[in-house]
Amino acid sequence: MMSQISNALSDFFFEYETPRQVLVRNRRVGVVCRLIQLGVLAYIIGWVFIYEKGYQSTDTAVSSVFTKMKGVGYTNIEGRERVWDVADYVFPPQGDSSFVVMTNYIITEGQKMGKCPELQGKHNCSSHADCEGGSFKRTGHGQMTGVCLNATKTCEVLAWCPVEDDVKIPDPPMLMSAVNYTLFIKNSVTFPLFGVSRSNLVENIDNAYISKCLYDPTDAPLCPIFRLGDIVKLSGFKFETIARVGGAIGIVVDWTCNLDVDVKHCIPKYTFHGLYGNAAETDQARASVGYNFRYAKHYLEDKEQKRTLLKVFGIRFDIIVQSLARKFDIIPTLTAIGSGVGIFGVATVVCDLVLLYLLPKREFYKNMKFKYTDSHVQDPDSEACSTETEVCKVRDLYISITLKPICLVFRTADVLFICYSCRSDVGATF
Ligand SMILES: *[C@@H]1O[C@H](CO)[C@@H](O)[C@H](O)[C@H]1NC(C)=O
Repeated sequence: MMSQISNALSDFFFEYETPRQVLVRNRRVGVVCRLIQLGVLAYIIGWVFIYEKGYQSTDTAVSSVFTKMKGVGYTNIEGRERVWDVADYVFPPQGDSSFVVMTNYIITEGQKMGKCPELQGKHNCSSHADCEGGSFKRTGHGQMTGVCLNATKTCEVLAWCPVEDDVKIPDPPMLMSAVNYTLFIKNSVTFPLFGVSRSNLVENIDNAYISKCLYDPTDAPLCPIFRLGDIVKLSGFKFETIARVGGAIGIVVDWTCNLDVDVKHCIPKYTFHGLYGNAAETDQARASVGYNFRYAKHYLEDKEQKRTLLKVFGIRFDIIVQSLARKFDIIPTLTAIGSGVGIFGVATVVCDLVLLYLLPKREFYKNMKFKYTDSHVQDPDSEACSTETEVCKVRDLYISITLKPICLVFRTADVLFICYSCRSDVGATF
C-alpha cells in the first residue's frame, strides 16, 4: 500500500506530460495561422498595452475646491449710483465649488407686512366673488382678503407689500460689468492609491505669475484665474443672453495623469460646458429659460419689520473635478498578458478548422492528427451500441449519424460526442 502511494507520488512529481504536436507543411494553413497570430499580437501590443494602457492600474482622486471672485459692478438707476462688490453679488459667500454670480436683478425695496393689490394680469377680478377670502392663488403673492379693489381691478392680498413686479426682466442686464469679473480657482487632488497629491497651482505658477495672468486656452492654460466673459464664451453661450436671464456653466477640472512619468507632468486641464440649455437653441424654444432665485434682506425701521427683496438672475458655476491617474502595476500587466495568450488560441482553432474541413487533403491531415484506438475492447459507456457493432470509432469533434440506437460517449477533451449508431458499414458518413 505504502509503495503504491509513493509510486504515485513520484510519478506525479518526477514526470511531466506535454501534448504531441503535428507539424503541417502547408502554405495556406501556415499563412492563415501566422496572419491571425499577427493580428492577435497587434491587438495585444497596440490596443491593450499601448492604447488602453493595460499594464497600469487606475485610481480616481479625492479633491477639494475653493473659489474667489474679484471685480466690482456699478449701476446708475435714475441718478441713484451704486457699486456692487463681491459680498453683494456672490451667493453663497463662502467660496464653494458651486456658486452664483448675480448679473441682473429686480429689486423691491421697503416691503412690509400688509394689505395691498395684486399685480395686474393673472390676478384680475371683476367682483369680490373672484377673490375668495382666506385662499391662495398658486402664482399669487399672498393670502386673498376677499376684496376686489376698484382702483386696480385686482384682488387684495395680505402679503409683503408692495408686491414684487417681475414681469419685465431688465435688458440690458444691470450688471454687464460681470463680464470682466475674475474667478480664482484653488483645487487640490489626492490619489490615495498612489499617495500622490497635486494642486492646480503647479510648478511655475507662483504668486508673481498669478498676480498678472489670465486664463487662455492656448497662451495660459494653467493660469487659475478666469474672466467670466471668457468662461461663458468658451462654453458656447452669449454673455448678454446668459447675463440677462441667468444660466448654469460647468467648469471641469480634468486631472488625467500618467504617474509612470515625472509627477510634474500631472497638470489640470480646464474645460467649460453649458449645463443648462443648448447654446444653439433659440431662446423661444426653451420652456423655462434662465436661472434665478429670490433673496431677502430683513431690517427694522421704526420698530417695524421690513425687507428688501432681490430677484437675482445670475450665472451659476459648478466646478467639477474629474480625475484618473494611472501607474504601472504587475497584476493588470499579467492579466493582460494572460488574456492575450488565451486569444492566441483563436488562431489554433481557426487553423484547425481550415486544416480539417476546408483543405482538399483534409482526410490525410485528419489521419495524421488523430490517433485512433482500436476498440475491439468494448467501452462500457457505449453498451447501447454494442449489439450490432463491431467497432465504435469515436473521433474527436465528429458526430457520426446513422439509424441505430443512441449512445453517448464522453471523451477526455470534454467534448460530448453523440454516436447514433456505431455500425462500421454506415457509420462513416460525417
Ligand atoms: C471690460 O474690460 C474691458 C477692458 O478693460 C473694457 O474695455 C470693457 O468696457 C469692460 N466691459 C464692461 C462691460 O465693463
